Amino acid sequence: MIPRMADRTLVLLHAFPLSSAMWDPQLDAFDGWRVMAPDIGGFRRPNEPAGKSGGGPPGAGMNEWAAEIARLLDARGVTQAVIGGLSMGGYLAFALYRHAPGRFGALVLADTRATADSEEAKAGRRAMQDLADSGGARAIADDMLPKLLGETTRRDQPEIGARVRALIEANRPAAIKAALDAMMNRQDARPLLPRIACPTLIVVGEEDTLTPAAASEEMHRAIRGSRLVTIPRAGHLSNLEQPGAFNGALGRFLKDL
Ligand code: MLT
Repeated sequence: MIPRMADRTLVLLHAFPLSSAMWDPQLDAFDGWRVMAPDIGGFRRPNEPAGKSGGGPPGAGMNEWAAEIARLLDARGVTQAVIGGLSMGGYLAFALYRHAPGRFGALVLADTRATADSEEAKAGRRAMQDLADSGGARAIADDMLPKLLGETTRRDQPEIGARVRALIEANRPAAIKAALDAMMNRQDARPLLPRIACPTLIVVGEEDTLTPAAASEEMHRAIRGSRLVTIPRAGHLSNLEQPGAFNGALGRFLKDL
């Protein structure tokens, strides 16, 4: 269990094809917690050079990214943390848990899934790589935005759509293509689930169609003692679409550790 101290660390791993900037509504939300949000694998915040916050190079797979996160924690003197990820960030959290379970004081799995890609999903990834080549990050944003946001957000919060588009378009096609490779080559995490021994929070937006509630329920059934929270009126990017409800769920979980 992570130590009770003034400066406890929460690590948040971002989704595809965004950057650490998707966690801005979480950065100052939890009193007594230091929040670290690295840019993974060549993704970058708008107006920042790639890889500034140390999440690993593009062209590497999940395992290399996980090793890079462990090095980042070492460099900051963090032996154990609450480590969470949303979607692709969840895939990375599984890779890190597989190699370094002792790093985890607790685990947060948001809008993600444990299964690996099907052959059909891999074909979709390759088509998206072609789209990144032909149309760049803008075409990727056009393709992904309707899937990333829930229908309530698309209808009632157009500013969130504009923000997410800006985050996607800040990324280079090379980083997007490399992450697609990393995701399509990731391992099935289902065998890992019964071995997860730290407190675990699972969060899912009720309107998430990319990693729907059933995927979260499967993880909840397999991870002993896990807590499952559904975020109303949110799609896949539940932390950005409904930050109040997301932070409330995460804050209550952190208080109980
Ligand atoms: C993400 O949000 O990180 C991606 O949608 C995950 C995926 O495509 O599998």
